[in-house]
Amino acid sequence: MLSSSFELPEDVLRARQNVKWGKYGTDVLPAWVAEMDFSIAHPIQRTLERMVGDHDYGYPDRGGNHGDGTLVAAFRSRMLKHFAWETDPSLILPLSDLVQGTFATILALSEPGDGVILQLPAYPPFHEAINSTGRRLIPYRLEPGSERYSHEPGSLSKLIDPTTKIILLCNPQNPTGRVFEQAELEEIGRVAIERDLVILSDEIHADLVYRGAKHIPIATLSPEIAARTITITSATKGFNIPGLRCGVLYFGSQALKERFHARFPARVLGSPGITGIDATVAAWNHGQPWLDAVLDHLDGNRRRIRDFISTEIPAIQTLMPEATYLGWLDCSRLGLSGSAHDFFLEQGKIGFSAGEFFDPNGHKFVRFNFATSRRIVDRILERMADAVRSNQRG
Ligand SMILES: Cc1ncc(COP(=O)(O)O)c(C=O)c1O
Repeated sequence: MLSSSFELPEDVLRARQNVKWGKYGTDVLPAWVAEMDFSIAHPIQRTLERMVGDHDYGYPDRGGNHGDGTLVAAFRSRMLKHFAWETDPSLILPLSDLVQGTFATILALSEPGDGVILQLPAYPPFHEAINSTGRRLIPYRLEPGSERYSHEPGSLSKLIDPTTKIILLCNPQNPTGRVFEQAELEEIGRVAIERDLVILSDEIHADLVYRGAKHIPIATLSPEIAARTITITSATKGFNIPGLRCGVLYFGSQALKERFHARFPARVLGSPGITGIDATVAAWNHGQPWLDAVLDHLDGNRRRIRDFISTEIPAIQTLMPEATYLGWLDCSRLGLSGSAHDFFLEQGKIGFSAGEFFDPNGHKFVRFNFATSRRIVDRILERMADAVRSNQRG
């Protein structure tokens, strides 16, 4: 198969000083942290080259009251165009780090000992944001079905007691790749209203949705749901610019914004830098053709992984993600003595993300970042199959 124009050769990737390729030795193929092994969209690259050429490294003055007016405008037009979501510029808080936004929201809108509902399995910093701030993590499990993971209908309201304050939603979900449907989001919204919960909705993967699924920002469902929802998002996952540190936190109401700022005056959270602002604006306004091509490639990879695993390593259970470039692999039927992550690292020389960081009972799972060339995906799959075969023989 022809390689896509955005694929980067392995020696270029290995020479980079980033965590993905730097964490392991040169004998290991890394498939863990959520970034892509691809060159970025030309409009973003050109924007950055222009800044470098002009030595444009001062405090940003990109319009608006805080110098980030172009970012606010790009967020608003992207949300409107892609999700028919009309946003209010006075409720937008640009920030540099979405995980910081999650921590800040939990600290601002709950007290130590309060319950925070978390879908499990979940992105590891979400666990940390609840546990390290002394909140109580209430697991809201996603269970595998024949095609996809989902919550048992009606199970959410049973989890809630008077000290439960927040539901942390990740949509599209990391690591299961679910894109929640309207009815599923409506149940969450209804329960949040009935039990007076804040919804913290991380929608960072919303740009990475495959054909057949549709991302719905939960804040668009009704004014009542919006009024209790904080949404966080950025262009960093979809357009592969996570090191540029730029995102947006959106308050669904003035009341939420005031509660948040009573604990965190706006200056406490860092604002995005000039490169992050301009790159995000270029991504959201001009990066879609690149993203469409990348999604086609990723779609091929997710199908390849499903087909290979179901025929060559059928003891591993996996369901195709509806969004994201992350596969969640259940290796519990491999009969491994230790964790699946350690097994594949030691026996296969593959650096997956360890399942136990996503779910305390997840040590027989790994998360597979397949945002790479088809060649590397194939080499990882071959290494997996070899490791499993030699383990069965031994
Ligand atoms: C669900 C989710 N939220 C947030 C982040 C990271 O956001 P940031 O780098 O802006 O802190 C990631 C990165 O993988 C993620 O998957």
